[in-house]
Amino acid sequence: MQNLRNKKAIITGGSRGLGKATALAFAQEGVHVAVTGRNEKALQATVNELQQLGVQATYAVFDVSNYDDVQVQIKKLVTDLGGVDILVNNAGIAAFGTLNDMDVNQWTQIIQTNLMGMYYVTKEVLPHLIQQNSGEIINVSSTAGLNGNASTSAYSASKFAVIGMSESLMKEVRKNNIRVCTLTPSTIATDMAVDLGIADKESEDSVLQPEDFAELIVAGLKLPKRAMLKSAALWSTNP
Ligand SMILES: NC(=O)c1ccc[n+]([C@@H]2O[C@H](COP(=O)([O-])OP(=O)(O)OC[C@H]3O[C@@H](n4cnc5c(N)ncnc54)[C@H](OP(=O)(O)O)[C@@H]3O)[C@@H](O)[C@H]2O)c1
Repeated sequence: MQNLRNKKAIITGGSRGLGKATALAFAQEGVHVAVTGRNEKALQATVNELQQLGVQATYAVFDVSNYDDVQVQIKKLVTDLGGVDILVNNAGIAAFGTLNDMDVNQWTQIIQTNLMGMYYVTKEVLPHLIQQNSGEIINVSSTAGLNGNASTSAYSASKFAVIGMSESLMKEVRKNNIRVCTLTPSTIATDMAVDLGIADKESEDSVLQPEDFAELIVAGLKLPKRAMLKSAALWSTNP
């Protein structure tokens, strides 16, 4: 089993939800963490919690869908952390609506954030991992990336695309000792799921919690270097 202590991680969308739970789980393992998002107050609050766990923690405020900002801010975070070993591409948005009803701008923004944002951030982090001949990339897709449903065309298109990009990247960089993992979780009780009306934060015993997702990521990272969690689907036990 690998020890994660003193590794350095960047988690996009680390201010709340799945990204924040992952940041806290990493800090408990002694990983130094940089979190990103668009809301500075939420990021500062998360960084305070991380620092209380005794690790170095920092943040950057930027929209993953803006490549100019991604270039500047990823460079800054890698400098602040003194390197990067782990990238969790988690930032994402969701909205439901039929293909015909959804506004063109909203449809485009979902693709621009969930797909292009992940591509931009990966493009800026990858050279560091290749240069050190080791690294970990965890890309967050969804069950909506495996199956389309009525009123999920934008979200499903973005999450199907994430799987294609992530699996291709995995095959490109195995030779560089970089493990790329594609996750397809089902519904987890976060703001996103509550806002979409598909989860209720009170039903802790039956609905997946952000901590369950974080635990899966940590377990994957702890695998011996010869082994790689290529993909994983996290489901709740009861339908
Ligand atoms: N919850 C679920 O049921 C579920 C299931 C499967 C997959 N997922 C995926 O898991 C990931 C995390 O979802 P979540 O449930 O934790 O959602 P969430 O609670 O809404 O959190 C989303 C995070 O992403 C950040 N973010 C959103 N748009 C951004 C942008 N354009 N630029 C930078 N940061 C941005 C948010 O911060 P700011 O708002 O401050 O920018 C926040 O930190 C998403 O990719 C989602 O599609 C979620």
